Amino acid sequence: MEPRFRDKVAIVTGAAGGIGAAIVERLAGEGARVVAAGRSEDTTRAVAEKIVGQYGGETLPFVCDVGDEAQVAACAEMALQRFGRLDVVVNNAGLMTFKTLAEWTAEDWLKVLRVDLLGAAFFTKQMFLHAGTAGGAIVNIASVHAERTTANAAPYSAAKAAVLSLTRTASIEGRDRKIRANAILPGAIDTPMLWENPNLKSGAETLDKRDVGQPRDIAAATAFLASDDAAFVTGASLAVDGGRLAKL
Ligand SMILES: NC(=O)c1ccc[n+]([C@@H]2O[C@H](COP(=O)([O-])OP(=O)(O)OC[C@H]3O[C@@H](n4cnc5c(N)ncnc54)[C@H](O)[C@@H]3O)[C@@H](O)[C@H]2O)c1
Repeated sequence: MEPRFRDKVAIVTGAAGGIGAAIVERLAGEGARVVAAGRSEDTTRAVAEKIVGQYGGETLPFVCDVGDEAQVAACAEMALQRFGRLDVVVNNAGLMTFKTLAEWTAEDWLKVLRVDLLGAAFFTKQMFLHAGTAGGAIVNIASVHAERTTANAAPYSAAKAAVLSLTRTASIEGRDRKIRANAILPGAIDTPMLWENPNLKSGAETLDKRDVGQPRDIAAATAFLASDDAAFVTGASLAVDGGRLAKL
């Protein structure tokens, strides 16, 4: 079978570790040229070098704060300059912080919304500005928190719910341009973000072993939604959570 992303160019945000690094690896492994966009130069470069060492091809690191529109535009510009096209954007960068509703300040809210919502909106804009006649695919890594949530995570849950709405709008506006937009709702995935969750540390939230997935599970679903296998899938939200959302 042909690699699904041969000749395609993808940008993956939050690429320095966890789910993002697994997505970069999966897309590069299937032939994509990838811009691995991360906050930290060292870790992002290390991920890109490891993947080039493993799969060959071209994976380039780029330092980018997704909440800064100028840096997002510079990232898309770099992909276009180096690779000449943009086919896939994966909005994976995310930030989760914890406070009660009475404690949150405007600054706290904006800090989370900037990364989790505006970052995805800025890269969506870049896809609409630069997709070619073949169209493109946007995959937004939201969360099960977009639909069900826990205490102390209001800005995160609200931002992830808004990302589902952004995904729907992008699917509608993208229809005539063959730009598809879909969201993934990861459940509990084995990354530092999961184990640093104070609700888990305190025992307020418990997890069955079977509830914990791996970054590669999200990468596989992302590759499907970004590929032509999902040509008729747009505006959708796919839970990749081991069935957690389905439970009473
Ligand atoms: N791990 C889970 O259980 C889980 C569950 C549901 C959703 N998610 C989502 O999956 C995505 C990846 O999370 P992860 O589990 O790999 O955690 P992670 O903390 O390893 O990854 C988040 C990444 O986002 C990056 N980031 C944060 N702020 C940024 C900014 N301003 N600009 C650019 N990058 C920034 C971080 O540097 C990090 O690399 C996130 O969107 C997260 O909300 C994770």
